[in-house]
Amino acid sequence: MMTLRKLEAGALALVTGASSGIGAALAEQLVGKGCRVIAAARRADRLGALARRLGPLCRPVALDVNDDASVGSLIERLPAEWRDIDILVNNAAHDIGGKVPFGEGRVGDWLAIIETNVAGMLRVTGALLPTILAQGGGQIVNIGSVSGVSAVPNEAAYIASKHAVNGFSKALRLDYLGRIRVIEILPGIVRTGFAEARWRGDAAKAAAYYDSFPVCLTPEDIAGCVVFALAQPANVTIAELLVLPSE
Ligand SMILES: NC(=O)c1ccc[n+]([C@@H]2O[C@H](COP(=O)([O-])OP(=O)(O)OC[C@H]3O[C@@H](n4cnc5c(N)ncnc54)[C@H](OP(=O)(O)O)[C@@H]3O)[C@@H](O)[C@H]2O)c1
Repeated sequence: MMTLRKLEAGALALVTGASSGIGAALAEQLVGKGCRVIAAARRADRLGALARRLGPLCRPVALDVNDDASVGSLIERLPAEWRDIDILVNNAAHDIGGKVPFGEGRVGDWLAIIETNVAGMLRVTGALLPTILAQGGGQIVNIGSVSGVSAVPNEAAYIASKHAVNGFSKALRLDYLGRIRVIEILPGIVRTGFAEARWRGDAAKAAAYYDSFPVCLTPEDIAGCVVFALAQPANVTIAELLVLPSE
């Protein structure tokens, strides 16, 4: 059976998409557990503010999951004492240009969704696998979605991307049984920066969208589920955790 470093014993997690929403909340909760966190995203100003707030257990790093050079140089851009990563959280994703019937969307938007949500996840996972394996055991958390196991209208590209996250998580788990614990968290609606990004900065439209749901989850709710899954003993795998708002 695999050995896992306890979060409290200074496990080192890299969280993609840590500049906002679920990723930022997760960085905070992992640091609260005593875990070291590399907070990765493109918006350096937001990561800097997060790192200042969380203190020395959090290290910001610029990362564009779509950029081979950015992902390929990630480990070498970290100081030696921040390279023993044993937890990867693939959280970065978007639905920019989505929430329209498929044919009314733009080809460029469909492909950008697949590029970030699927290719970006594969790219980062591939780059970090040797590092995680070198720790003698580790964990990969993929943030999927209820949209990875079901569908709603007007999100075809995003739903395709999250079904891919579900399939990738299942397959990766089998490839690294006994060496890497692969966890997928599948949230329902969460109030984050996601809708504002989808509508390219239209905060009012995003707020109205979230307000149209009787209840939304919070980023902290999902972060708590990730921490719960990561903290399980080595003989337990929370393979898929579907988390819905209670109405
Ligand atoms: N909100 C929901 O209702 C909901 C429901 C189910 C699942 N999810 C999933 O939860 C995860 C987090 O989303 P969220 O709701 O927290 O949204 P969010 O607040 O918009 O956060 C998305 C994060 O992804 C990062 N990101 C986007 N493109 C990137 C790229 N090319 N390279 C690196 N980072 C990138 C963004 O950072 P930068 O822009 O700074 O790079 C941001 O930190 C996603 O996987 C999403 O699909 C969300």
